[in-house]
Formats: sequence, structure tokens, C-alpha cells
Amino acid sequence: MRILLVGPPGAGKGTQAALLAKNLGIPHISTGDLFRANISEGTELGRRAQDFMRKGELVPDEITIGMAKDRMEQPDAANGFLLDGFPRNLAQAEALDGILTDVGLALDSVLDLEVPEDEVVRRIAGRRMCRQDSSHIFHVDYTPPKAEGVCDVCGGELYQRDDDREDTVRKRLEVYHSETEPIIDYYKAQGLVTTLSALGAVADVTQRALAALPDTA
Ligand code: AP5
Ligand code: ZN
Repeated sequence: MRILLVGPPGAGKGTQAALLAKNLGIPHISTGDLFRANISEGTELGRRAQDFMRKGELVPDEITIGMAKDRMEQPDAANGFLLDGFPRNLAQAEALDGILTDVGLALDSVLDLEVPEDEVVRRIAGRRMCRQDSSHIFHVDYTPPKAEGVCDVCGGELYQRDDDREDTVRKRLEVYHSETEPIIDYYKAQGLVTTLSALGAVADVTQRALAALPDTA
């Protein structure tokens, strides 16, 4: 199955993607995680992406599309994948359609996670991420780790993301409304979108998402 998760920054895409990917046995492909891995490894791609990310702007399409295509062409993605954070504007959505059409494939479902803006701000302000594994995501109030600053799963160090500062979050929300939201209508025209509330317990949101997918409904 080929699924896209869309929703504002802090909606819980990464949290849900990790659980859904495990449940469905498909890889979780996050362009944000790929950029962060490149930055921590000090690659040229990471160096080019870093300034845009710090400012809350989109990394240019010529960098992003090639990176996403390379990842989708890895052997583990042959039978499906869960995209998180890509595509993020109409040009990327059209590029993805081209990439999939070329090999006779298409997206099966687009899950649109809905969360009010004040909740998004609370979720981002309290988020702590694991340095060892980007799928280990905590929140200081909602899902606190047992020991402060330490990942429950692997013992890795927890950190606050560079782009989670208040001014950058405001910019990311602005970019989401102007650049990313239009792709929801693009996919609605293809009959692919299910909008679901991302409020409530993490496990409840996962159940809602699974129920919305074509094969598991
Ligand atoms: P990216 O990493 O994709 O960030 P984002 O879309 O802004 O989303 P976030 O990671 O902030 O939030 P999330 O929805 O995954 O929420 P999470 O699960 O962590 O992108 C970062 C940057 O990279 C972009 O700004 C851009 O510069 C660049 N970039 C990436 N892709 C690009 C592209 N395609 N093109 C161009 N540039 C690109 O949850 C948030 C918090 O809430 C956590 O603390 C979590 O524990 C908590 N939480 C989650 N669910 C619940 C719940 N149900 N109840 C309570 N708390 C919850
Ligand atoms: Zn960890």
C-alpha cells in the first residue's frame, strides 16, 4: 500500500507514521527525517537544506524531489511505503505522480490529520526527539519519558529540534497553509483523501487511521 500522511507541523504525522508503518509492514519515509539525518552526518545535501529548515521554509524542490525519489526506489519500498512530509507543495505532488505513473503505480490513500492550531503549538513546544532514532518521539506533558532527557526505547539522548522555536513554528504554519494545504484539494480531485481528527490518545488516532485505509477498513 502507498499512503501519504498530511497535516500541519506538530499534528502527529511522525508519531502516527511510525506506528502505522510497523502495523502495515511498510517503510516510513519522512523527508524531514532524511534531511535531519543528512545534517547530522554533515553531508552536502544536509548543508544545503539546513538554512531553509532553520527558517521554517521549504527546502527547494530540486533538492527534495531527487532525495525522495532515491528513497522510494530502495528495495524495502518496492511493495509500498508511508510518506510523511512529502509532497509538500503542488510541484512535488505532480512530480510524485510522474514518478509513480512511470512505473505503473499510484497512491492508494491520503490521510489528512486535522488538529486545531493551539493544540499544534502545545504539541510542538513540548516535543522531544531521540538522537538515535527519529521514530522515538516524546512530549514533556502528554507522553513524557520515564527519565528526563533519556529515550525510554533505546536510552538515546532526547533533544528539542532547531526549528521548534516559536518564531520558526509560526513560519512553518504559514508555509503549511500557503504551500501544502493546496495539495489536499489536488488529491481530493483524485478521490484519495480521508480527513480525520488527530485529537485524543495516540492509539485512538492510529485506529482511526487504520480504519480509513482501503484494505483494513
Ligand atoms: P518535518 O520534519 O516534516 O516537520 P513538520 O511537517 O513540520 O512536522 P513535525 O515533524 O513538526 O510534526 P509531526 O506532525 O510529525 O508531529 P509529531 O509526531 O512529531 O519538516 C521539517 C522541515 O524540513 C520543514 O520545515 C522543511 O524545511 C523541511 N522539509 C521536510 N520535507 C520537505 C519537503 N517535502 N519539501 C521541502 N522542505 C521539506 O508530534 C508532535 C508532538 O506531539 C510530539 O511531542 C508528540 O509526542 C506529540 N503527539 C503526537 N500525537 C499526539 C497525541 N495524539 N496526543 C498528544 N500528543 C501527541
Ligand atoms: Zn530512542
